[in-house]
Amino acid sequence: MQELYIGLMSGTSVDGIDAALVDFSGQKPKLIGFEYLPFIKEVKTKIETLSLNQALFLKDYGELDCKLGHLFAQAVNNLLDKVNIPHSAITAIGSHGQTLFHAPNEQWPFSLQIGDPNVIAEKTKITTVADFRRRDIAAKGQGAPLAPAFHQAVFKTNKRKICVANIGGIANISIISDDKLIAFDTGTGNTLMDYWCQKHLNKAYDDKGEWAKSGKVIPKLLERFKQAGYFKLAPPKSTGKEYFSSHWLMQHLVTYSQSNPNDIQATLCQFTADSIIDGIQEHTADIDELLICGGGVHNHHLLALLATRNYKVNSTETRGIHPDHVEAMAFAWLAKKSINHLPGNLIEVTGANSLVILGAVYSYS
Ligand SMILES: Nc1ncnc2c1ncn2[C@@H]1O[C@H](COP(=O)(O)OP(=O)(O)O)[C@@H](O)[C@H]1O
Ligand SMILES: [Mg+2]
Repeated sequence: MQELYIGLMSGTSVDGIDAALVDFSGQKPKLIGFEYLPFIKEVKTKIETLSLNQALFLKDYGELDCKLGHLFAQAVNNLLDKVNIPHSAITAIGSHGQTLFHAPNEQWPFSLQIGDPNVIAEKTKITTVADFRRRDIAAKGQGAPLAPAFHQAVFKTNKRKICVANIGGIANISIISDDKLIAFDTGTGNTLMDYWCQKHLNKAYDDKGEWAKSGKVIPKLLERFKQAGYFKLAPPKSTGKEYFSSHWLMQHLVTYSQSNPNDIQATLCQFTADSIIDGIQEHTADIDELLICGGGVHNHHLLALLATRNYKVNSTETRGIHPDHVEAMAFAWLAKKSINHLPGNLIEVTGANSLVILGAVYSYS
């Protein structure tokens, strides 16, 4: 008897919605189907405008929340049509939502994800779990990253120390050994490279990292990037586009207006690679393998830069899960935890003062 859940993810890259249908009845979660619904430009712009301009009209906010709920539901409905599985066969959806703001270290900490789960439950006729981060924040955690618990559950191997790097808009690592898990956000993943590419080439991303590869790293600029206060913090820590923002980048580039744009891109790519490599090295002497998931896996230049240490670098596909599917599968897995009244956070990762059941349940019966 299958045990089916759907995970919905749309990350800080604001590229679109990933929907993963997962069967949890076996020893390891098994992907049954996957759907990707790219955001049209208008939606992407609305999300970015709302998250960047911190002054907003409540009507814009409410409408986008509702609209995204409809788009999430559409991704689920497309997916179930494709695999021809009835909605009634799905126990629940886990919807991460679209992050508009992540501020876990303020006096009144919060993390804001939108995409109305009432709409998702109603339009899909499936019980929906959403708002995964705020309970952990209420328990004094970072509310992020949440995927490392899933990385540990599916990728842990006996006697080998591995690291999983999920390279989305923001990147996070999970260093997994027999007795320990160390996991945190390392900083920017693709977000600054995407911004720079959009600005100069009018393309959403640097396909395969070819443009970065054509440039030369500017060592002084790279060093400036690395001076960011975030790198001086010890985990538990998490970050977002509020910190590694286009504004942050442009401030650093004030004295580099004469530099070649592809040299800046090369430097940004090296910055992402070094943040991951340094993040690993600060916390462990050695690992056997670095497994990559998230959209960064398609940036061949970035992968080449990551493969300059004495460990193997592979896609998570070599371990049975396609790198584009990992994050959405993680939210199916977290939904299963919540539905079964089990905690989904890890104290050692988020820094919460207790294990808590994540998310709110929007039932459909
Ligand atoms: N062919 C490609 N070449 C280089 N980068 C790519 C390619 N395809 C996707 N990406 C990168 O992956 C990002 C999307 O990754 P994703 O894991 O969905 O991030 P998020 O979770 O933040 O949405 C894109 O914004 C882009 O930077
Ligand atoms: Mg994405």
